[in-house]
Amino acid sequence: MKHYFLLGFLCFLVASCQNEKVISGGNEDPMVQIRIDHFPDMELEEGKELTPKRIALGRKLFFDPILSRDQTISCATCHLPHLAFSDGQTVAIGIEGRRHFRNSPSLFNVAWQPYLFMDGGNPSLESQVIGPIEEHREMDIPFTEAMARVAAKQEYQNLFQAAFKDDVNPYTLSLALATYERSLVSYNSPFDRFEYARDSTALNTQQQRGLELFKSARLNCNACHQLPLTTDFSFKNNGLKLNYEDEGRARVTNNMAEDEGRFKVATLRNIDLTAPYMHDGSLNSLEEVIDHYASGGSGHRLQSPLVKGFSISPNEKVDLIAFLKALTDTSSYKDYQL
Ligand code: HEC
Ligand code: HEC
Repeated sequence: MKHYFLLGFLCFLVASCQNEKVISGGNEDPMVQIRIDHFPDMELEEGKELTPKRIALGRKLFFDPILSRDQTISCATCHLPHLAFSDGQTVAIGIEGRRHFRNSPSLFNVAWQPYLFMDGGNPSLESQVIGPIEEHREMDIPFTEAMARVAAKQEYQNLFQAAFKDDVNPYTLSLALATYERSLVSYNSPFDRFEYARDSTALNTQQQRGLELFKSARLNCNACHQLPLTTDFSFKNNGLKLNYEDEGRARVTNNMAEDEGRFKVATLRNIDLTAPYMHDGSLNSLEEVIDHYASGGSGHRLQSPLVKGFSISPNEKVDLIAFLKALTDTSSYKDYQL
């Protein structure tokens, strides 16, 4: 009986029972282990296990504008579920219309990111939570004040006790949000079913040709956007600019000589939903992205030698775009809320 309940919950969570396992850790709030056969293990420190109550609490906080000074902005203002948790803007717009200098990235599969932000300037999902809450172009409120607002609500008090057996405090508040984010997994796209579940009908022949192009030495996409996660998490200068306004990795290392214009290789999962593209949202379509790489880049002194330019026919371009669109899988949030 219990077994069925757990299985039912997981189908609800990730819309597929194939890959995940549950470790029952007590009946009321069982631990949920997300294990995807063709992905590396999700590494979790002790005490950070996912449970349904923690995920639900984190989701509630993620959508709650009380975490912003004037109560107009939530995490979901810039990370919209139906856009794979990006926002469709060139750069993010925060409180009072203030412009951020970067494009809002997707949060799918963020559990596998070894560090966060496009410059790698943040070490963990828990510590990342403080960033947007305090940042003046985002939510603009001292973290302690945001926390006090949450703690002042009896409903939240109860939910924190149920999820953590603990009060609202910096640790539980950030862990709740981080736990929700870890539940945002994307692994069941047509590409995954074709490549890893051996469903030869999951990609049509056009998409299959696009996949071959993606992997080809000529286009070289896979050299940085490594499958299956579509990133190797390295920092690369992909020749987007000749003069970078955003120093990229050098903002963290202060090493302009070696790190200027290097950015974390972006995930391509759900890429069809996350335009515009690149750290500054300067490319509007996948076609523009392909044109950029085909042109061979700006020739910036730190441009990666892996970006070397190529010729591509109009038909091949259509094939490649068809493949990129087959990287869409947002099923893990659909059952929650939009
Ligand atoms: C005003 C828009 C805005 C709001 C509000 C916002 N974010 Fe973000 N988020 C961004 C932008 C822009 C970036 C990219 C920052 C960078 O790379 O320097 C980002 C990056 C992230 C990342 C890192 C992703 C990666 O792949 O490196 C995480 C995680 C994240 N946000 C979670 C949250 C959470 C949780 C909240 C609410 C507490 C939140 N964000 C609120 C705009 C926003
Ligand atoms: C040298 C490594 C490298 C190679 C090769 C490479 N990319 Fe990228 N790609 C990156 C980096 C780094 C970024 C992030 C750049 C930024 O934010 O400005 C990126 C960003 C992107 C984006 C935008 C992602 C987003 O969410 O904004 C797309 C789409 C993309 N690449 C597709 C491709 C395709 C298609 C190919 C092959 C034709 C390719 N890339 C080859 C490193 C590479």
